[in-house]
Amino acid sequence: MIDPFGRAVTYLRVSVTDRCDLRCQYCMAEQMSFLPKRELLTLEELERVCRAFVSKGVRKLRITGGEPLVRKDVMTLFRGLGRMLDDGGLDELTLTSNGTTLAKHAHALADCGVRRINISLDTLDPERFRTVTRRGDSDKVMEGIAAARAAGLKVKINTVAMKDFNEDEFSRMVAWCGERGFDLCFIETMPMGEIGPDRVDQYLPVTSVRDRLGESWTLTETPFRTGGPARYVDVAETGQRIGFITPMTHNFCESCNRVRLTCTGTLYMCLGQEDAADLRAPLRAYPDDDGPLLEAIDAAIARKPKGHDFVIDRTNRPAVSRHMSVTGG
Ligand code: GTP
Ligand code: 5AD
Ligand code: SF4
Repeated sequence: MIDPFGRAVTYLRVSVTDRCDLRCQYCMAEQMSFLPKRELLTLEELERVCRAFVSKGVRKLRITGGEPLVRKDVMTLFRGLGRMLDDGGLDELTLTSNGTTLAKHAHALADCGVRRINISLDTLDPERFRTVTRRGDSDKVMEGIAAARAAGLKVKINTVAMKDFNEDEFSRMVAWCGERGFDLCFIETMPMGEIGPDRVDQYLPVTSVRDRLGESWTLTETPFRTGGPARYVDVAETGQRIGFITPMTHNFCESCNRVRLTCTGTLYMCLGQEDAADLRAPLRAYPDDDGPLLEAIDAAIARKPKGHDFVIDRTNRPAVSRHMSVTGG
């Protein structure tokens, strides 16, 4: 699948639920209304769409949410998708999770062929964790992280950089991840959906994080890439990597290789644009024929936009009305 700007689409992000047990301040509003369950694609339908994408050249699947592990019976989906790793159709099956229920699922995920997991953790401080997630218990996440490690999963920690909130912890997080053999990614907050707090007050350019870390750690550029948007440096003292995801300061759209499917079967061709394609209609209208679904996918890729329109300013107007939790980033 080649888009109008010559970019090959080889990475599908699949949000299996818009629900989450947390309410991170940059992601959701305090009060959220979630989709009625009847709107959701079934697990069988989600697998069918994934298979259709893999038949068209997708090599990497990332399961997201909301929090993917709160979707009932989600391991059935992982097992089905894991079989595509065995068939050779897929190179990587992975997920992004908040870690709260990972202790229960880590071993089963590894058994399905998951090798790597991205876990969101914005602070090492339990009080702050509760503040940023509005309800979370960091002990649960720590248990989840330990279970992922014990199951042999390679862990990457995602930290959204927030002004006056976790700035003073970044160096400690580099050390903490280094001791455990984890890579760590710092992310700039993106303006998606109404969240309540003013994003200008949260936003911290990750380029400044890098400069500051360079005062305490020996950082060297590395060409290492995962197929995601992060640019990495090696940390000489820990032997681990730090990644920087900079949608605001250094747009990476030129090398975009991904599209995202929501749990209702809507395909977004860009995280920062409203345009979307309905894949549920052809999926349900033709239960035994993938032809119309494949045609709808082709038509969607043919209108993948050049890039996002994210701006963070005092108007506090989100670039897109949907929350990050609809597509899981
Ligand atoms: P790997 O590189 O495979 O480890 O994953 P990833 O970093 O692509 O995925 P993850 O789910 O960990 O996402 C980390 C951050 O990158 C989240 O904040 C996502 O919203 C953001 N991100 C991923 N893809 C895009 C993209 O295409 N555009 C923008 N603006 N942000 C993205
Ligand atoms: N901007 C940047 N990153 C976000 N995430 C959630 N909402 C936002 C936002 N508005 C992060 C989560 C998770 C990843 C999928 O996206 O922390 O690690
Ligand atoms: Fe949940 Fe992730 Fe959004 Fe936090 S960032 S509320 S953990 S979906």
